[in-house]
Amino acid sequence: MCGLIGYIGNRPAQPILIDCLRRLEYRGYDSCGLALLGDGIQVYKDQGKVAELQRGLSLTNERTGIGHTRWATHGRPSGINAHPHLDCAGQIALVHNGIVTNFLRLRQQLTQEGHIFSSETDTEVIVHLIEKYYRGDLAEAVAAALGQIEGSYAIIALQTGPKKLVVARNESPLLIGLGDGENFAASDAAAILDYTDRVVYLEDGDIGVITEREITIANNGHEVSRQVQQVPWTQEEAQKTGYEHFMLKEIHEQPRVIQNTLRGHLSSMEPVAPEITANGDIAQILLLGCGTSYHAALVGKYLLEKLAKVAVRAELASEFNYHDTLLGKTWAIGITQSGETADTLMALRKAKSLGCKTLVITNVVGSSATRIADEAFYIKAGPEISVAATKSFIAQLVAFYLLALAWARIDTSSRERLMAELRLLPNKVQQLLDGQDDIAELGEYLSRYDSAFFIGRGINLPVALEGALKMKEISYIHAEGCAAGELKHGSFALLNPHTPVVAIGAQDNTYDTLLTNIKEIKTRGTPVIALAAEGDREIDKLVDHVIWIPGTTPLLSPVVNSVALQLLAYYAARKRGYPIDQPRNLAKSVTVE
Ligand code: G6P
Repeated sequence: MCGLIGYIGNRPAQPILIDCLRRLEYRGYDSCGLALLGDGIQVYKDQGKVAELQRGLSLTNERTGIGHTRWATHGRPSGINAHPHLDCAGQIALVHNGIVTNFLRLRQQLTQEGHIFSSETDTEVIVHLIEKYYRGDLAEAVAAALGQIEGSYAIIALQTGPKKLVVARNESPLLIGLGDGENFAASDAAAILDYTDRVVYLEDGDIGVITEREITIANNGHEVSRQVQQVPWTQEEAQKTGYEHFMLKEIHEQPRVIQNTLRGHLSSMEPVAPEITANGDIAQILLLGCGTSYHAALVGKYLLEKLAKVAVRAELASEFNYHDTLLGKTWAIGITQSGETADTLMALRKAKSLGCKTLVITNVVGSSATRIADEAFYIKAGPEISVAATKSFIAQLVAFYLLALAWARIDTSSRERLMAELRLLPNKVQQLLDGQDDIAELGEYLSRYDSAFFIGRGINLPVALEGALKMKEISYIHAEGCAAGELKHGSFALLNPHTPVVAIGAQDNTYDTLLTNIKEIKTRGTPVIALAAEGDREIDKLVDHVIWIPGTTPLLSPVVNSVALQLLAYYAARKRGYPIDQPRNLAKSVTVE
């Protein structure tokens, strides 16, 4: 969602803020702005991207400032609605991520008291409240203002006068980065990696005061100390390193990501998530996620049912909040790359309140989900910058293979066979990447169409759903993922020569029926692209194009198939000339319901 940055130190703040804002743009990119603290506060903000904002700036010398990149919720993207927002006197500036749910009432009240609002945002009420309660101490005024706020927030504020930043969080991510003679505040660690990898994650209710030499944090009026943590990512991981887009770089990182996520677990097979597994026999496992992470959950459901022989329910996190019944003792697993998706956090809290032990599978150490869940399983994807999730999805699948193996009720030789195949996965993915030119051609071919279906069966149904999601996210081709058997129950009405179907094949018990489905589709004059395992002699007689997939055991086929579909979407979008890393209207981390 929105990205926040604050800097206080001994160097000119403006270029640092701009640099960090560029790195935060993946959180939202419809408008952006910054406020610099000199004798007064200078605000520069506008609709559009950080590069456009930067073009209008000339270098200034202030050493303190805050910045924001926005994904609009209240009020359209515009210069006026962009952050930072100022109080009436222009002496306090504020950036915010989150939603103030009672802002209308507060706005009316503040207006009656004489405050003049200039934007349509919910955020502006916070800065006016701070102004209202200001009695000479910014942190105290922030605390009083936040006492009136319902909803979620991460904020960074500054004021004219003494150089300091005041930060606060409730249910939205915020951290403090520690430098040498300089300090930072940011909504995520990837933004400040060029400057420091030492961070302090704020907890809900924390209010911090940051100067260039010192940070102090209080919660509920009492000073608290928070651990300094090292971010486990390198600067290079957060850079394009010669690739045209982050998405392509992240697709190509996947062999290494699989290896990193497997490393340690496969050799030791030490108990995974001991706290929840110590909990004894369970009736079911509940998987909760949104978007791509939900698709990983669907693959996970299949794996856990097959290998751990346990009933699994996979729910869209946003919908779980409307359900109240669990069947018996349940473990809940939240799947969230960022660890900050509001719906998933809420679903995890709800699962806890229903008595579940909870685990989160996440990529981000210190993220909000890790504070809610009893345990965390960290995937080792490294920072994912492109809005469309790729390497984090593959790492989530690997996490599910590891969990399913750890909890498997299968004989030793089947387990060892699967472990051996898992070890080969990085090579299989690498082979696929080495032969990507054919997929690139087919991606370009698909770019001519406005609509497509992706179909699969069994463990490859979620792969079809994810393939369609990737395609629509970045190429803007309307794409629908569908169970191959369901297509004829309605969607067949849309089949014609201008609506290609991408069919995901696997050498398992779904294969023969999938071939029948493909024949039914071909009879309607619809072009078909099939994903097929190398060596398949049947499928290419039926379809128009084949993407050959390095053979692996069918249970692992979702990994290699998904990588092929990521490339397909990438090359379709590239041919169409769209901004692949930052598709319109989307944001990487959706911190509102
Ligand atoms: C957003 C992103 C998706 C992502 C989803 C869930 O919609 O654009 O790529 O799959 O959020 O994100 P999470 O961080 O919870 O995995």
